[in-house]
Amino acid sequence: MPHPLPYDAIILGAGAAGLMCAATAGQRGKRVLLVDHADAPGKKILISGGGRCNFTNLHTAPDRYISANPHFAKSALGRYTAQDFLALVEKHGIAWHEKTLGQLFCDGSAKQIVAMLLDECDAGNVEHVLGQSITAIDHSDGLFRVTLGGREVSATSLVLATGGPSIPKMGATGFAYEVARQFGLKVVEPRPALVPLTLGGDEILFRELSGVATEVVAKCGKTGFREAALFTHRGLSGPAILQISSYWRGAETIGIDFLPAQRSGWLTAAKRAKPRGQIGAALAAQLPGRLAETLAQRLELSGELHNIKDSVLNDAERRLADWRFSPNGTEGYAKAEVTVGGISTAELSSQTMQAKRVENLYAIGEAVDVTGWLGGYNFQWAWASGWAAGQSI
Ligand code: FDA
Repeated sequence: MPHPLPYDAIILGAGAAGLMCAATAGQRGKRVLLVDHADAPGKKILISGGGRCNFTNLHTAPDRYISANPHFAKSALGRYTAQDFLALVEKHGIAWHEKTLGQLFCDGSAKQIVAMLLDECDAGNVEHVLGQSITAIDHSDGLFRVTLGGREVSATSLVLATGGPSIPKMGATGFAYEVARQFGLKVVEPRPALVPLTLGGDEILFRELSGVATEVVAKCGKTGFREAALFTHRGLSGPAILQISSYWRGAETIGIDFLPAQRSGWLTAAKRAKPRGQIGAALAAQLPGRLAETLAQRLELSGELHNIKDSVLNDAERRLADWRFSPNGTEGYAKAEVTVGGISTAELSSQTMQAKRVENLYAIGEAVDVTGWLGGYNFQWAWASGWAAGQSI
């Protein structure tokens, strides 16, 4: 039952950032109320990393985050690091492993991370109200007043930690943006990120490759990721595509290097080695068979290699190293792991996450215009920004 007296802080959203912020402030002796419309905390944590939660990344650095202000995340990420979170995980005896590229996962289950954060909240005497809708928020006489479940609770500080709109069926909303706008804070236009891209038109033919995966470099402008790409029945997915989707704004083409391990001149070298070979066979030696076949058809090169001029083979090689796709969209918030954009960092202190123009209003986690790469970076931002606000409340 919520306390009738004002709290020091009400935190809206019992996800990754809200739980971390509540535990941090609570353990500093602050009276904290953590509120969520879901009936259980940390639902995205539970489904993350295939149920094992990729809880941080050892290579966390500000340049692995997208934001209108690329410097904003430096302070919080520098003060609460991947090693700090790892130390917490180890303090709770949770076994973990590094999977790849610095990505740390639980050996057991993501449930352990939620249980750990709830234990930390208990250690700070954090109170919870779950399963109640917030119907109004006001600010007067130095107090934030939140109406939930027909009652009013109040606090000196209010923390917006309700995340972004990715995966609405899990209860995700753009609520943080509405509240931010109510208090006059700007919001950088949000869009789905870490999301599969869809293909249409002539490229629809690639959908026939649904299920085929291969290592590529996926590029958008100057940014590129070397990881697996996967063809799907709607277009393109896999880690390389999810990563590049966060940089894709809808108009650009996506360049795919299908053979990132090949040196320039490999196709003419293949011609010298096997003059009577076909281009499809040369590709099939490097790529999954169905993909090799489709690419060979699209290159419109048939016949034996010795009948194809070197200059034509060199052109084909260049195309294979920068195959241009024009996605016609993404699979949207329904499939997006995160949201890019959000509450403008220009409105917030990078040290405390407090709004510059509204005293004691804070925004943390995915609600803010800071979005990490795939691989534990988004949770690390949630922990770091939650910790920074929790220290300041
Ligand atoms: P988060 O979404 O965790 O929490 C927001 C909370 O606010 C929720 O509990 C929600 O119910 C509540 N809320 C929303 N609207 C509300 C309203 N109107 N009123 C009250 N409460 C409201 N990241 C990573 O680093 N490693 C990983 O392995 C993964 N894996 C992954 C898998 C999948 C399928 C998804 C969708 C996402 C990931 N992520 C991830 C991303 C990661 O889950 C995400 O970045 C963090 O959960 C963001 O933390 P927040 O606390 O900001 O929001």
